[in-house]
Order: sequence, then structure tokens, then C-alpha cells
Amino acid sequence: MNTVYSKITGLGYYVPETVVKNDDLRQYMDTSDEWIQERTGIKERRWFTHGKDTNASMATTAARMALSRADLDAAAVDLIVYATLSPDYYFPGSAFLMQRELGLEGIPVIDIRQQCSGFVYALSIADQFIKTGMAKTALVIGAEIQSTLMDKTTEGRGVAVIFGDGAGAAVVQATTDPEHRILSTHLHADGRYAEELYLKDPGSSRPNHFITPQTATDGGASVVMNGNTVFKHAVVRFMEVINESLTANGFGSDDLSLLVPHQANIRISNYVQQQMGLPDEKVFNNIQHYGNTTAASIPIALTEAFDKGLVQPGDLICLAAFGSGFTWASALIRW
Ligand code: UT7
Repeated sequence: MNTVYSKITGLGYYVPETVVKNDDLRQYMDTSDEWIQERTGIKERRWFTHGKDTNASMATTAARMALSRADLDAAAVDLIVYATLSPDYYFPGSAFLMQRELGLEGIPVIDIRQQCSGFVYALSIADQFIKTGMAKTALVIGAEIQSTLMDKTTEGRGVAVIFGDGAGAAVVQATTDPEHRILSTHLHADGRYAEELYLKDPGSSRPNHFITPQTATDGGASVVMNGNTVFKHAVVRFMEVINESLTANGFGSDDLSLLVPHQANIRISNYVQQQMGLPDEKVFNNIQHYGNTTAASIPIALTEAFDKGLVQPGDLICLAAFGSGFTWASALIRW
């Protein structure tokens, strides 16, 4: 019997129409275009439109685009793996809402919470399900509405200027082609750093009720990040997990065609690029336009890279992420 592998056969994304430029943020907080661009590389980000966009609706649009590019009907999908830190409801997860939108009642859906590494974790889960024969065609999603999770005052500016909204999707299908496929995925986590980047409320282990009037005012309902610590861990872990994927498959950094890193901060990407000795054309960045869209950042970036012709059959593509948890992860793909 032929060995079954998995491959990405369609990509899609959706970003909300509202463009928020760095200077637009000055109506909420004391900041500047110069500071944001110099420290993060971000020029603008998208914020969702209330009443139009939901986490699941954005994911559905991205999924439809990915399905159409894979030349598939939604009915072919037999698994959804959905990564988000910003679901529409506390429960059930947004995967259920997207499944309903796509008319896929009955198939299994998996919601995961691995933050910035969410898409790579989700891809890995889909890869394992396909390789074991549990699924044949998976939709892998990363989607976020983060503009409502941040303190948009001067106090919260270290976080609020970075994060944006958007969604990305990949269709992952079974293949017996040993060449063009997901070669390997590598997942890591370290919960000792959970509170270095987290959203505390609404949390279930609060006295009496998980949400109270106090929740709105005591700071727990906005994302808290120790930016310096996150940055220092990110640069080390990105390098490690990229090298882990290359070594596992007998490659070196020269063999890479394109690195698509999670869009956390242009300085992190630049550092990794420089340490690995990669030329500009081998590292894809679009943080300038979308900010950090957490689980959505890699599928949005990969779709844009694909659309620009930077992902060709036979290319060796590495996806790599680091984020809250802490989590870090990579996927090496022979396109
Ligand atoms: O997706 C994975 C998760 N996140 C990340 O990977 C983010 C990792 N961390 C970072 O990207 C950086 O740490 C930040 C961009 C968040 C911050 O950059 P930084 O160079 O570490 O700045 P800082 O936090 O040390 O702040 C430097 C100064 C401070 O002022 P003082 O104390 O030196 O007077 C801040 O108050 O910059 C100030 N500041 C700002 N000024 C203008 C912080 N945020 C802003 C802002 N506008 N938005």
C-alpha cells in the first residue's frame, strides 16, 4: 500500500476593509508613526467592522477562497482545524460557526488555542489526521479579531499598536506523492511563560462569576505583554525551530526557497534572516500592512507569497512561529 502524506492544495485569506494607519492611532493614545515603524515595521493594520465581520465569517471567506483555488466543493472537506485566540463565543469555538456557514454538519471540527503558533499547530494536526487515514481533506484556519482585546489608551500602546485583525485558510489534502508534500512539522510549548503574553479575563477561576463589572476596569480584560521578554525568547526559538525542521530532513539553510515567518515584528524577522544568512527574496514579510494577526499571520502571508509567484512547485518552504504560551513551531514543505 502506498504511504499517505498531506499537501496544501489551496490557500485563501480575508482582511477587513478598515485600514488603520499608525497616525490614526494617535486619536486614542500617545504614539507616533516613527516609533511604530522603527520598533515593529508596521505601517498600518486592519480592524474589523462590527455588524459585518465576525471571526468565523472572516474565516469562512478565507476558506471559500482556498477551496475554490483547490478546485473543490466545501462538501469534500472532512475535517476542520481552527486556530484562534479570539473566538466569537467563549464556547463553542468558531470552528462550529464556520462549519455551519459552510453547510458541513456532521464532520469533526477542532478548535485550538496556540496563539501565534496556532496555524502551524493546526497544520500539524491536519497532517497527522491525514497521514493516519482519519481525514482526506482538511480546512486549516487561522483567524483573529484582536482590535477589541486591547487597551487602546497610552497605557496599552505597547500592545495595541502591534496587533491586527484578519483570517487565512489552507486546504490540506491526502497525497501519495512522496515529493510534493508537508515534509515534517515541529511543535513546542513552555507554560512557564504563560503570563508573559496573556489575556486574563474572562477566566473561569474567579470568585463567584467569571465576569463581573470589575473585570472591565481592573486591566485583566486587555492583552498584557512583556514585550522585551517575548522578543528575547522569540529570536532564539525561531532560529531553533527553523533549524530543527531543516536538520530533520537533511537540509541546510541554503536549501530553503522561502521562509514565511509569523509576522510578529520586522526586527525579529530581520534578525532571523541575518543569522541564517538568507537574502531578502527568501524571507516573506507583510507585517507592514497587517500588523501582527497572530494565528492568521502565516496563512495570510503564505497566500500573498503564493499570489506573488514566490511559491513554485518544487520549492522548499519553511513556516515558523513563536508566541504566547510560550509556543513555537515550524513546518517544512516541499511544494
Ligand atoms: O507574536 C508574538 C508576540 N509578540 C511579539 O513578538 C512582540 C515582541 N516584542 C516586541 O516586538 C517589542 O518588545 C515591542 C515592539 C512590543 C516594544 O519594543 P521595545 O523596543 O521593546 O520597546 P519598549 O517596550 O522597551 O519601550 C521603549 C519605550 C518606552 O518608553 P521609555 O520607558 O523608554 O520612556 C515605552 O513607553 O517606548 C515607549 N513605547 C511607545 N512609544 C510610542 C512603547 N510603546 C509605544 C508606542 N508609541 N506605541
